[in-house]
Amino acid sequence: MAYKVPFVDPGTHYQRLKSEIDAAITDCLSKGDLVYRQQLQDFESQLASFVGVRYAVGVNSGYHALHFSLVAAGIGPGDEVITVGHTFVASVSAIVHTGAKPVLIDVGKDHNMNPDLLEAAITPRTRAVMPVHLNGRVCNMDRIMAIAEKHNLVVVEDAAQALGATFQGKRAGGFGLTGCFSFYPFKILGGFGDGGAVTTNDSKVARMVSLLRYNGEDRETGEYHYHGYTALLDNVQAAVLDVKLHHLPEWIEHRRKIALLYRQGLDGIPDLQLPHYCETCNFDIYQNYVVRTKKRDALREHLKLNGVETLVSWPKPMWEHRGLALEKPRLPETESLCQEVLSLPMSAETTLEQIAHTAQCIREFFSWHNRRNNP
Ligand SMILES: Cc1ncc(COP(=O)(O)O)c(C=O)c1O
Repeated sequence: MAYKVPFVDPGTHYQRLKSEIDAAITDCLSKGDLVYRQQLQDFESQLASFVGVRYAVGVNSGYHALHFSLVAAGIGPGDEVITVGHTFVASVSAIVHTGAKPVLIDVGKDHNMNPDLLEAAITPRTRAVMPVHLNGRVCNMDRIMAIAEKHNLVVVEDAAQALGATFQGKRAGGFGLTGCFSFYPFKILGGFGDGGAVTTNDSKVARMVSLLRYNGEDRETGEYHYHGYTALLDNVQAAVLDVKLHHLPEWIEHRRKIALLYRQGLDGIPDLQLPHYCETCNFDIYQNYVVRTKKRDALREHLKLNGVETLVSWPKPMWEHRGLALEKPRLPETESLCQEVLSLPMSAETTLEQIAHTAQCIREFFSWHNRRNNP
């Protein structure tokens, strides 16, 4: 079905950047620069300086960025790593694949790790905390870093959705031992396939991640230092991402403008919570604009009928997927979010007219419901 307001629009996105992207790809292909070349290094150094850290290491997914970070921090069997229940499954799988146990805690009203619950989840086995900066909003890193320091825990930031977002002026990916980014096509900085990166100020961690992604091999000496993985960020992807990184500040501004328009168009509707929280401490990049309502499913259907594509992340708690074999925690906020969240269209290509149409459809839906309930 062709939507009047698609959730994202990768075709138009490419057309807009076509000349720059085609030139970058042609340059790689014509020089034969396919694996581990200058374009990768250039992108890594641009990314590190954008995030405000010393090193960035390109890998082939956000998942691998998380997994390698934990491995480089020495996390393994017998350890516990605390993260949230309301996240993409890859955050938790990255922990499981080290042999450590994921300990899931609840999120707060802002959909991010609730720092009030963190200390109670720490046990003598806890080695690390993985805050997830969901939807383009950084967690309260002041509190989380203070608790981690007090208990001598490693912090691995899942910043897959938060490139460019800040907390108290500092960018996501610059707080913990590492920051982990995803360049999945529909992320704010999206490639033409999977991609990711680890950011860090620690030279040993940067080196270990560089080796792990390349089968454990030191390219200078040919020595294999570990049983590693085939998980390098492709050179052509890096060249494309480097082009796109230069546009990121405009796209962040565009997303913030869309968020403002949603807010103006939707403020004041009872039973519709909008995602505007601490604007004095957070600078959000709105990877997703997630509203919350008890009438989520009916609203989604109404929007679909009116040509507006939406997304639900995620409709059932992770531990209810039996194949993941996770212990069932008691996380009431996470469970409610599964019933109530709805992500509205938001991308570099979403137009102001599309936002106006979406907001109008949402208003119509709620006024119809209100009239029906209060005849
Ligand atoms: C919060 C979060 N963590 C981790 C990931 C994993 O990233 P990737 O899909 O690049 O492996 C994603 C991507 O969807 C994500 O949204």
